Amino acid sequence: MSLAERLLPGPPERVDVGRAVELAERPAGSDRPWVAAVFISSADGAAALGGVSGGLGGPADRAAFQARRHMADMILAGAGTIRAERYGPPPLPEDVRARRAARGQDEVPRIAAVSASLAFDEDQPFLAPETRPLVIAPATVDPTRRARLEGRAELLLAGDGDVDLAGALGELRRRGVERITCEGGPRLLGALLEADLVDELGLTIAPMLVGGEATRIVVGAQEAVRRMRLAEVLHAEDGDLILRYLRERDPGA
Ligand SMILES: NC(=O)c1ccc[n+]([C@@H]2O[C@H](COP(=O)([O-])OP(=O)(O)OC[C@H]3O[C@@H](n4cnc5c(N)ncnc54)[C@H](OP(=O)(O)O)[C@@H]3O)[C@@H](O)[C@H]2O)c1
Repeated sequence: MSLAERLLPGPPERVDVGRAVELAERPAGSDRPWVAAVFISSADGAAALGGVSGGLGGPADRAAFQARRHMADMILAGAGTIRAERYGPPPLPEDVRARRAARGQDEVPRIAAVSASLAFDEDQPFLAPETRPLVIAPATVDPTRRARLEGRAELLLAGDGDVDLAGALGELRRRGVERITCEGGPRLLGALLEADLVDELGLTIAPMLVGGEATRIVVGAQEAVRRMRLAEVLHAEDGDLILRYLRERDPGA
């Protein structure tokens, strides 16, 4: 169990990080699932250390990250993250599987990769049958690469050149997906922001400075200002600051 002081909303109280993160309200829309992005950054804005994000987080961040998996119907990630972090079947403890089943969810959330190239190594753990991998790709994808994935992953085609993320999310909603945790990476977050498809950002600020040339949590996107409201602040015992931002949309929009 990872403990934190909840500073917002007040009054301050001690909370279990995993429970606080898992139980937050996340209402699905009728046209697409709730999309919660989850990221970690050092205090100087680095989104990776030695090419992966794992070295940035302490136990509280790991508890928050896991709790977001526990609540999700589906885990969405860009192919860059799937490749860099060697994604495989998410290991979920028995009690979490039972809780999910009682809520009517699959015992383990399915992983969906967004990719235009379909360039996955043969031994990529993501392609293990237990992951029930879903690959979201543009309809214009290379037919040879598409044929190589056949029988190993389900393909959802949306868009031309790039994935039409709004179209893909609409299709997932029609298939019953209500809550998505998007675990990155920076390029996919950029594309989601451009299309204004992020409802929540779970951001951990790790208490360290990293320097170097590390990427930010968003790269490669057009400037797209999306106003967010800071809804929750957890100051964890290990020093991580776990923030929950919600998208503030113009009610008339
Ligand atoms: N700090 C954090 O919380 C965090 C979280 C996640 C990842 N990371 C780090 O970020 C780095 C990876 O960065 P990244 O920007 O390459 O990751 P990414 O966003 O996961 O992957 C980018 C790739 O995803 C696919 N993609 C994304 N949007 C697409 C769209 N709209 N249409 C079609 N394809 C799309 C493309 O795949 P194809 O190349 O297959 O076409 C693209 O090259 C790693 O170092 C990782 O550790 C950090």
